[in-house]
Amino acid sequence: MLKKNAAARRYQKQLTFETKMNFDEKVIRRNSNCYKWDVQDDETLIPMWIADMDFRTAQPIVEALQERVAHGVFGYTKVPKEYFEAVCQWFGKWHGWHIEPKEIIYTSGVVPAISAIIKALTLPGEKVLMTSPVYNCFYSSIRNNGCQVATSSLKADKNGRYTIDFEDFEAQCQDPKTRVFLLCNPHNPTSRVWTRDELTRMAQICKDNDVFVISDEIHCEIMMPGFQYTPFGTLDESVKGNYAVCTSPSKAFNIAGLQIANIICRCPKTRRKIDRAININEVCDVNPFGVIALMTAYTDPRCKEWLDSLNDYIYNNYLTAKDLFSKLLPSATITPQEGTYLMWVNFHSLINNAHNAEHAMISDAKVWINAGTLYGDDGEHCMRINLATQRENVVEGVKRVCGYFGGK
Ligand SMILES: Cc1ncc(COP(=O)(O)O)c(C=O)c1O
Repeated sequence: MLKKNAAARRYQKQLTFETKMNFDEKVIRRNSNCYKWDVQDDETLIPMWIADMDFRTAQPIVEALQERVAHGVFGYTKVPKEYFEAVCQWFGKWHGWHIEPKEIIYTSGVVPAISAIIKALTLPGEKVLMTSPVYNCFYSSIRNNGCQVATSSLKADKNGRYTIDFEDFEAQCQDPKTRVFLLCNPHNPTSRVWTRDELTRMAQICKDNDVFVISDEIHCEIMMPGFQYTPFGTLDESVKGNYAVCTSPSKAFNIAGLQIANIICRCPKTRRKIDRAININEVCDVNPFGVIALMTAYTDPRCKEWLDSLNDYIYNNYLTAKDLFSKLLPSATITPQEGTYLMWVNFHSLINNAHNAEHAMISDAKVWINAGTLYGDDGEHCMRINLATQRENVVEGVKRVCGYFGGK
């Protein structure tokens, strides 16, 4: 009898879990102090801009947080050893990357992590290299630390797939002022999942020129079928110089508001410098919810199951959006989606000023997507569309974008 009850409870638990994996379920985010939905006071607008998702996180994370809230005491947090083990276990098991607990520095976000690493390893006036277009906050992190931005433009082929211009990349690394390469792996906004060969070549060039690599791997869990994330840390030792990797479960599990991230750095001397900068920047404290959420995301098998379903859903959102574009606005070039939930579209001569187009679409078409120029001048004809929303929003949002250009 007892056994039967336990089985029934397990079944019930599973049932609740499965029902919570319904990504089509509409979640009302408006009026929840939500950056994505509450910045513009317009009930009719579909926001497909900033990179967070309109899905509830995995149910085990919700439950772990509820339990922590019920405790009712929210004082300063000691990060337990299980936290570090959870990070090592996740990357070892799912990504074949062996990390030692001592190599991990926790902090309150990937942007604070990047900023502290730049502060630790550069002098004002030195250059930090990136491949553009690239995530907008990279620019501010570099400038806020008194460094100069150096960019190597990615090259797009006729299908809109971006690759590194290695000749230019190498020339930029040879500039003695270039001290750091800030890599986005996988890449926001072009969705490229860099291959092991590409990463190896970048790593080797950086090593040859004594350029430190910061690899931002925040988007590593969102993969389209047929693509595989390569952690920078798994590259052959012979090609890697000094480096640090920034990770967080925040994009994959939609917990960016909980502010938790990690820096993985193998070199003890560099790690001490970064640790010091984390302290100087006062981003060395994390909150109890971020810690609990990360440990649950990385250790509860149901969270991995949820993540797999999420990836499937996002891929189908991409196929839906691509199909609509090909019918309604065939002149737009859709960059093939390799990873991330951010779609990159080149509108060519339909857009001459992406910034103006973003604002005009908000007011006229009632859809908010990001101007490509936010990510660098190379994005002047492009826009970035956040696909991490319910499919009906994707359909309506893309129809509005196409409608704005006269595509019906
Ligand atoms: C490449 C990349 N890095 C970092 C972040 C932000 O990280 P965090 O919120 O942990 O500072 C984003 C958010 O969109 C991103 O796309």
